[in-house]
Amino acid sequence: MPWDPDRYHQFKKERSAPFEDLFRLVKVRPGMRVIDLGCGTGELTRELADRLPDSRVTGIDSSPEMLERAELLRRPGLDFVQGDLAQVSGEWDLVFSNAAIQWVSDHERLIPRLFNLVAPGGQLVVQLPSNHNHPSHQLIRQIASEEPFCTALGGWQRHSPVLSIEQYADLLYRSGGEDLQVFEKIYPHILAGADAIADWTSGTALVPYFERLSPEMREQFMESYRQALRQLWPAGPVLYAFRRTLFAAVRPQRLTAVG
Ligand SMILES: C[S@@+](CC[C@H](N)C(=O)[O-])C[C@H]1O[C@@H](n2cnc3c(N)ncnc32)[C@H](O)[C@@H]1O
Repeated sequence: MPWDPDRYHQFKKERSAPFEDLFRLVKVRPGMRVIDLGCGTGELTRELADRLPDSRVTGIDSSPEMLERAELLRRPGLDFVQGDLAQVSGEWDLVFSNAAIQWVSDHERLIPRLFNLVAPGGQLVVQLPSNHNHPSHQLIRQIASEEPFCTALGGWQRHSPVLSIEQYADLLYRSGGEDLQVFEKIYPHILAGADAIADWTSGTALVPYFERLSPEMREQFMESYRQALRQLWPAGPVLYAFRRTLFAAVRPQRLTAVG
């Protein structure tokens, strides 16, 4: 997908709050081998590496645009590689992912697969947006189903693979996870107005739609989207109540899979 690092960083401050909550779930030990799945531009990967003493941290991402930025942050103990997070191998003391696995389908298979990468005594720690039923996302699907966009997209729409917190808890338990922590949280972002919500989603949820539309059609889509958002939020400032899922699980020293 054509990620735009500058557009994504427009809401950098707001996006760092869930990282702080996520980091609190990490059981810090010295000398950890860490993989950050979907590391993006690497700022938060570096932050993670800086907070983990004597760690060796690898950030993996599929986007060359994002990795080009990340490469500038490389240092001893911190490197970046291009690849698909669903295909990672190896054994890691910490498998970490902030705001990335929502782009990968079939979480019923993905979560056990990621948990299998965790070394005995290690941890899987993940944050992902679960905001797909917010009006800002419902409107994207609605506009995509209307003409001329429906024809331009060939009827395509993105359906979120994100599961409920009960399902993540169950998957982690069945994978043999211990010390489970699974919860949802609303991050209350105060934005200038409806157009700022459009700016936000244009850096994330709209990316796969943009990829399938011509530049003219993209602009037309954005205009319809902004107008629809302005009807819901006619005046600013607006509360963008953003729902996210966070979970963590420890792989026991001696693993006993359940059921
Ligand atoms: C919303 S950004 C999050 C970046 C970073 N973790 C952060 O919190 O700032 C999502 C990242 O996931 C990456 N991504 C999406 N699908 C991926 C995949 N299958 N394998 C690796 N990276 C992927 C994108 O390229 C993008 O950089």
